[in-house]
Parts: sequence; structure tokens; C-alpha cells
Amino acid sequence: MSGGSIWDRFLRKKSVQLLHDESTERELAGVSLNKSLNLLDLTCFGIAAVVGAGIFSTLGKAAADGGPAVVCLFLLTAVACLFSALCYSEFASRIPVSGSAYTYSYVVFGELIAWLIGWNLLMEYAIGNSVVAFSWSDYFSNLLNNCGAPLPDWLQNDHYSCSLAAANTGELAADQSKLVEIWNKAPMIGGLKIIFDLPALALNLVITTLVYIGIHESKMVSNAMVFLKISVVIAVILIGSFYVAPANWVPFAPNGASGVLQGIAAVFFTYIGFDAISTTAEECKDPKRDLPRATMLTLAICTGLYIVLALVLTGMVSYTELRVDDPLAIVFSKHNLNWLSGIISLSAVVAMASVFLVFQLGQPRIFMSMARDGLLPKRFASIHPKFKTPAFSTVVTGIFVALPTVFLNSQLVTDLSALGTLFAFVLVSGGILALNKADKAHGATANPGFRVPYLNGKFVVVTFLVIYSYFMFQHALPANHDLSADWTWEKFPYFIFYLVFVGMAIVTFIKNWSLIPVLGVLTNLYLIAGIGHLNWLRFGVWCLMGLAVYFVYGYRKSRLVTGVQS
Ligand code: ALA
Repeated sequence: MSGGSIWDRFLRKKSVQLLHDESTERELAGVSLNKSLNLLDLTCFGIAAVVGAGIFSTLGKAAADGGPAVVCLFLLTAVACLFSALCYSEFASRIPVSGSAYTYSYVVFGELIAWLIGWNLLMEYAIGNSVVAFSWSDYFSNLLNNCGAPLPDWLQNDHYSCSLAAANTGELAADQSKLVEIWNKAPMIGGLKIIFDLPALALNLVITTLVYIGIHESKMVSNAMVFLKISVVIAVILIGSFYVAPANWVPFAPNGASGVLQGIAAVFFTYIGFDAISTTAEECKDPKRDLPRATMLTLAICTGLYIVLALVLTGMVSYTELRVDDPLAIVFSKHNLNWLSGIISLSAVVAMASVFLVFQLGQPRIFMSMARDGLLPKRFASIHPKFKTPAFSTVVTGIFVALPTVFLNSQLVTDLSALGTLFAFVLVSGGILALNKADKAHGATANPGFRVPYLNGKFVVVTFLVIYSYFMFQHALPANHDLSADWTWEKFPYFIFYLVFVGMAIVTFIKNWSLIPVLGVLTNLYLIAGIGHLNWLRFGVWCLMGLAVYFVYGYRKSRLVTGVQS
């Protein structure tokens, strides 16, 4: 298998059958993970990963921009996620091994794309978890402050933001002045200012240890946290519904469609996480059956909760009062229910910790799969003899998550994390289109499990294209048709998206492509287009770094070249 041109080597693929055989081999050799997850555990992991900082925090700004109509955005985003969730479900059911989008891409797109997606999942899980740790730390520090036991400022801020503020010679806003004050007062060791986010690091240490010790222990803690946060969300809905004043729902969309759409990224963030359960495939008792069900259940439960919650929140107070970091707690303070707002703040801490836990589980399992394929050193695939977890990868993940919490700030990593996730969603949705072909070429399995329902996309996609074109040409061209540099940069990703849309519509028409995966690709590409060209540049640099690592290591060591099992 080692021959062929460079191009052949980039495109070398694993068959579904080979993945099944490898999995059986590992089980016989006693080097596979513990199989202890059932449908309930998986659904709890899904909800644990999804309901977190998004709904407890970023919902506020989205509701303030869009008004009560943010409910429609939740529904639309759920539909977009449903396309990807269906595609993830089919893959998880047909290829029930750890690795998620990385492994799926290996089957349909070949090694190079698989490596890139694995590299970018590092953004979703490890880098994304730094965001979760920062948000968690904010809530936790507030709780300590409210309990009268505040941490020193230099132990609850990040070095990067303080040093940037200190280097700024211009006029400073109030929050920047505070950072400069922290910088000036921070203790020093050998000329280095000691400023770091202690709660974020502590969370990382505790959860990484839990994940290291075992999947059983992790699931028990995750289930308990899910029970608590779902109880609190339901309590908010039930108690809050008594305080709803329908007058607050009028006007329904005060800032029109554009106001509602401003919340796209925030609302998409609230749904991220349902894909994480596919990384635990090897630990499921019946992955073929349970993974698709758990993914769908997670999405259905979270969508239902989000929509009712958004209706209740926007009905309890005027949408203008929701531009806060802790909207769920604030609405109850405004109705003088301070005891309830205290409970909500506490459960926000638990909710975010559970997101952290599931993402911290996902990343090592992706490292492990990449190492098994020879794309990372063997150590990453090592399984702890007693705990049966990918021990070395878990420790490395802990370090990867800790570094940004010490050296970077939350803003810098949030968009990159969303881009990494969306990139994975696009490839998984597109992968379903290619899967049948790849499956045939390598010999399909007799029992394929869950399938994305086939609906011919021929006419629907072309109809959507016509509607989209109408709106694009109505609103996207500047009134004076002056294509200034700024305008071009801002709109450029949308033009690229439009070209892809036209191309996909033509191919869908000719080849009768399946509607759901096509819509999965298009909706996620549209969201990517909205993330901004600067982040695209950063993302490009990240991908180049990934390619460099691949050429130095994986290109030569790939198991498809060496044939050596890790
Ligand atoms: N959906 C997860 C959250 O909102 C990532 O925290």
C-alpha cells in the first residue's frame, strides 16, 4: 500500500469493513475501551454537552437584538442542526468506532482531509473547552464574590488581556483600566507578572482527572449534572410562566429579520455538542442502535426546552432588558425572586462544567483514533491497563486546554472554535453524499443500521437557490454599487458561498442528490460565511500548521503505508 503518487497517498481511504475488522481485532486483543454506555447515558452526555454557557449566557444578547422572534431563530437553527445530526447518526451507526468526524472523513474523503478534520476538531473540543473554562470561571468567581469570599484579581483574570491593556497607551474604557490596575498590582516572580485564571485551571484539573479515571465515573457525574440543570431549566419555565405578560411579546420582531439574524452565532453555539457523543462509540453497548437515537433525542429535548425557555424569558421582561451575561438569573431578580436567581447562577456553574466534561472526553478519543491510524505517535493510542481510558491522550488534552486559559483570552478562541465545528459539520454532511459510493467500492456491510432518509433534492435545492438569489440581489449589493474594499471583504465569503450553492444546485439536479445532506452542507457553509474574514485567515494559518505536522509525521507513518497496528 505504500506505493502510488503523492496525490494517491493523500486520498488513501479506510473502508468501513477495515474499521470493523480493526475494532474486532482490538477487542480480541483486550486493548479496547470499556463498553458501559446505554441509550440513557448517551442522551445524558448529549444534553450535558449541549445545554451550557449558550443558554445560560449568550441567549441574552441574541434576545435583546432579535426580540421575542429569537424563538424563530432557535427553530431555524435546530432545523439546520437536524440535517447535520441525521448525517452524524448515519455515520455513527455504520461506523461505530471512536473518532467521530475524523474517522468518517477517512472513509469518504481520504487521509489528508481526515487529518485536517482531526486537526480542526482540536479547535472544537480542546480550544473550545478553553472558552467554556473562561465562562465557567466568570460565573464561579461571581458566586465566590456573592458569598463574600472573593479570589484576588490576579487569580481570576488572564495574563494576555491584562498585558494588552497595560501596553495600550490610548484612552482606556473602565474595564480596561481595571485590567491595567490588576497588571500593576500583580505579584512578580523573576520579572514575570503572575496573573492567571485559577478557577479555569482548577476545573480543568478536576475534570481531566475524572475523565482519566474512567468512563463509568464520568457518566455518573455527567448524569447527575444533567439531572440538576434540566430540573433548573424546567423550574425556570414553570415558575417563569406565571410571570409572563403577553404584552412583552409585542412587537415580536422589533429589529426585523436582520435583528433576529444577528444572533445566529450565539444561537448556533447553544446547539453545539450533540456531535460529541459520537466520539464515545467504542464505549457504547449497542452503538449502531443507540448513537442515532441518542443524537436525535438530544436535539429534540434541547430544541423543545430552548424554544419554550426563550418564549418565557421574552414574555417575563421586555427584550430590551435581556442584554446581560446572565439572563436567566436576571429575569427573576427583576421579579424580586432573588433566591431563585441564586439557584440559577449555581446551576449555570454545574451546566458549564458538564459541557466541559463531555468535550474533555471527546478530544482524547479523537487523538487515540488518529494514533491508531499512525497519524500521531503510538503513545496517544495507549489505554490505561486499569481504567481502560486513553490515558496519555487525556493528559495531553488537559495540557492543551490549560495553555490557552493561561496565555490567551476568551474572545480570541470563541470564533475559531465555532469555525472548527462548522467545518466538521460540512464534511460530515458532505460525507454522506460520498459514503454510499465509498461503501460500494470497499464492500458494504450487510446491516448498515440507521440511514438518512432519502428525499430527492433535485427541485427543492434549485427552488431554494432561486429564493436565495432573489434576496441576495435585493439586499447584498450596496445601494450605490460602490464596491469599496471594506464592502468586498465583508461580503466576500457570501459570494463564495453563493458560488458553492449554484454548483451544488446544478450537481444535485443532475445527480438526484439526497436533500438532507445537501441542506446540511449549505446551511453550515452559510453560517461559516458569517464568521468574518479575519477568522478565516486565522483558521487558514491553523490549517497550514496542521499540514506541516502531517507532512513531518503522519504522511510517512500512516498505518496505510506501514501496515503496523498501533
Ligand atoms: N452548547 C454548548 C454551550 O452552550 C457548547 O455551552
